[in-house]
Amino acid sequence: MTEQGATMDAPARTETAKPHLPDAQTVTQVTHWTDRLFSFRVTRPRSLRFRSGEFVMIGLLGDNGKPLLRAYSIASPAWDEELEFYSIKVPDGPLTSKLQHIQPGDEIILRPKPVGTLVHDALLPGKRLWFLATGTGLAPFASLMREPETYEKYDQVIMMHTCREVAELEYGRQLVESLKDDPLIGELVGDKLLYYPTTTREPFHHMGRVTDNLTSGKVFADLGLPPMNREEDRAMVCGSLAFNIDVKKILEDFGLTEGANSDPQQFVVEKAFVGDGI
Ligand code: FAD
Ligand code: A2P
Repeated sequence: MTEQGATMDAPARTETAKPHLPDAQTVTQVTHWTDRLFSFRVTRPRSLRFRSGEFVMIGLLGDNGKPLLRAYSIASPAWDEELEFYSIKVPDGPLTSKLQHIQPGDEIILRPKPVGTLVHDALLPGKRLWFLATGTGLAPFASLMREPETYEKYDQVIMMHTCREVAELEYGRQLVESLKDDPLIGELVGDKLLYYPTTTREPFHHMGRVTDNLTSGKVFADLGLPPMNREEDRAMVCGSLAFNIDVKKILEDFGLTEGANSDPQQFVVEKAFVGDGI
C-alpha cells in the first residue's frame, strides 16, 4: 500500500509506446488517502465544458479489450485546466481494482459528456447552501466548493461530510484548508464556508450521522444557524441511496422541495454510487 496522503506527480512528458485509448487522457497526479480512498488528476480535453458538480464516465480498457466505464463526479471546478477525481477502491470492483494502480503518465478513458443534477442551475436563489455528503459523495462538492458562483450566490455555504473514520475525512479537510489561501477564490470564500465534518465509528471532535445532526438540531446550534427553512436554505445531497432517501425526507420535513435542472427548487440529490442493496 502507498503511504497515506502520498502524492505522485507526472514526470516530464515523454513519448511512450503504450496503446492510445479512445478518449484517452493522461494521469498527472495520484494521491492515496487510505487503503480505500485515492484521488487523481488527469489532463482535460480542450473541448470539455462542464458545470461544477457534474459527472462524466471514466474508465480503462477491460480484459476483453472493451472500455470498462463508471460514472465519476468531477471533483475539480469548471475553471481548472486539469480534471480531478476522488475515488473509492473496491477490492473486487471491476474498475477500481485496476484503477487504484494508475500512476502519472498512464492513460484513462474519459467520455466528454458531463451531466448531473448537483448544479447551481437546479436551485432557486437562497441565502444559505448546504452540501450534505457521506464518503466519496464529497466529490461533486470538492468541485462546487472551489466554484466562484457558489460564493457569489450565497451568504453562507455549509459542508457537512460524514465518514466512519477520521482518515476518510482527510481529502476534504485539506481541500477546505487550502481554500483560505487560494489565490483565485480565497478572497471570495472569506468566512462564508462553514465546514462540519463528522465521524460515526471513531472518536472525533464532532460525531454523528448527517441525518441525526440535522434532526437533533445539533449542527444548527454548533454553527449558530437557524433551523433550515424553505425561504433561506438550499441543499445538495450526495451519498449512498439509503443516505439520500433519509436526507430527502428530513429536508422535506423542513419544508424544502426537490428540484431538477428542468425545474429548479430548494434541493437536489444525486447518488454517490449504485448497488448498496436497496
Ligand atoms: P462497482 O461494480 O461499480 O461497484 C461494486 C460495489 O462497490 C457497489 O455495489 C457498491 O456497493 C460499492 N461502491 C461502488 N462505488 C462506491 C463508492 N463510491 N463508495 C462506496 N462504495 C461504493 N465513485 C467514486 O469513487 N467517486 C465518484 O466521484 C463517483 N461518482 C459517481 C457518480 C454517479 C452519478 C454514480 C452513479 C456513481 C459514482 N461513483 C463514484 C461510483 C462509481 O461509478 C463506481 O461504482 C465505482 O468507481 C466502483 O466501480 P467498480 O467497477 O470498481 O465497482
Ligand atoms: P454509520 O457508521 O452510522 O453507518 P458507509 O461507509 O457505510 O458508506 O457509510 C459512510 C457514512 O455514512 C458512515 O458514517 C455512515 O454512518 C453514514 N451513513 C450510512 N447510511 C446512512 C444513512 N442512511 N443516513 C445517514 N448516514 C448514513
